[in-house]
Amino acid sequence: MIPRIIATGSAVPEKIVTNDDLSRHMDTSDEWIRTRTGIRERRISEEAPEQKLFSLSREAAERAIAMAQEEFGAEFSARTGQQGFSREDIELVIVATCTPDMAFPATACRLQDALQLGPAAAFDLSLACTGFVAALNTAAAFIQCGRYRTVLIVGADVMSRMIDWSDRNSAVLFGDGAGAAILSGDPRFSREGSGFLDLVMHADGSGTEALKCRAMYFNEAEPAREYMDGRRVFEFAVKKVPEVIREVLARNEKEPSDISLYVLHQANYRILESVAKRLSEPMEKFPHNIESYGNTTAGSIPILLDELNRSGRLEAGDLLCLAGFGGGLSYAAALLWW
Ligand code: COA
Repeated sequence: MIPRIIATGSAVPEKIVTNDDLSRHMDTSDEWIRTRTGIRERRISEEAPEQKLFSLSREAAERAIAMAQEEFGAEFSARTGQQGFSREDIELVIVATCTPDMAFPATACRLQDALQLGPAAAFDLSLACTGFVAALNTAAAFIQCGRYRTVLIVGADVMSRMIDWSDRNSAVLFGDGAGAAILSGDPRFSREGSGFLDLVMHADGSGTEALKCRAMYFNEAEPAREYMDGRRVFEFAVKKVPEVIREVLARNEKEPSDISLYVLHQANYRILESVAKRLSEPMEKFPHNIESYGNTTAGSIPILLDELNRSGRLEAGDLLCLAGFGGGLSYAAALLWW
C-alpha cells in the first residue's frame, strides 16, 4: 500500500505574545528578534497544565478528521458504492511531542478516547523538532508493511511550559501549537500519482548538549528548563538540512529543482534562507509562518502543511520535501507526491 496524506488540521492557542510584549519583561527588542529570527509573535497556551498539549492536539486532529469527512463523505455513498471516511478507519494514533501534559498515559491514548476512534492502537514518540517527520516515517512504514491502513499523526508541543523566561537567547524563539495529518494507504482514499515517496532520518548524538531539557518530573522544586547553544544549533541546521535533502533527492534520482515546495521546520527565517541558498533554490519555494508562531517544535511542519493545504497552495502532482531538525541532534527529510 502507498500511504498518502488525505487530510490535515492544526490548532494554536488564542493568546498572542508579540516581541514588544517580551521586551517589557526581558532585555530584548522587536528589532533584534525580527532581524535575527523572522519572528514577530507567538501563541502561548493558557489551559490548565494537564490539558495544554492534549487540547491543542485534539483540536488539530478534529480538524483533520472533519476535512477527511468533507472530502470523502462520512456515510455510505450510493454514488461510489463505498463507505466514506469514518473515525473507525483510524487504526493507529501517533503523537510526536517532547512536552506532554503527563509522563503517562500517552497523549495518543487520551486522543483515542476523546476522538472516539474505536480500539485503535496509540502511542507517543519524542524527537523534539524532528518529531513530526519521525511520526510520518513510522506511520508510513506501518502502512507500507500492511500492518495498518490509516494512521492519525499529530505533531504538537507546548514549549512555553519549559522556557526559561530569564534566558533571552532562547525564550524569544518558541511558541505553542499542534498540527495533524491523516495518512492512509486505503484504496478508498487513494488518488493517482499521490503518495509517500521516501524518507531519510539521521541523528548525531554527539550534539545532545547543544539543545536539551531535563524530564519534567525530575525535580518539582526546580522546574525543567530548556537549554540551547543557539550558534551551534544554527550551524548544525544550515549544514545538515541541505545534506539530508540532497540525500533523499539523490536516492530517488531527483534534483532540488524537481521540488514544488519545501515544507521545513520553522526554527529561524535565516535558516530557511541559508538552506535555499545552499540548494540554489528560490525563497518562493520555502513557505513560512515563523513570523506568526515562532518555533512550535513538533507542531511547526504540520501547522504549515495544513495552512498550505487549506489555502489551496498545494496542487495534485506537486512534489513536496518536508524536513525536520533539532534536539538530538536529529535531522530528517521526506519526499511525497501531493
Ligand atoms: N535580544 C537581544 N539580544 C540578544 C537576544 C535577544 N533575544 N538573544 C541574544 N542576544 C544577544 C547575545 O547576548 C549576543 O550579545 P553579545 O554579542 O553581547 O554576547 C548578541 O545578541 C548576538 O548573539 P548571537 O548568538 O551571535 O546571535 P545570532 O545571530 O547567532 O542569533 C539565534 C542567535 C539564537 C537567533 C541563532 O543562533 C539561532 O537561531 N540559532 C538556532 C536556534 C534554533 O533554531 N533552535 C531550535 C532548533 S530546532
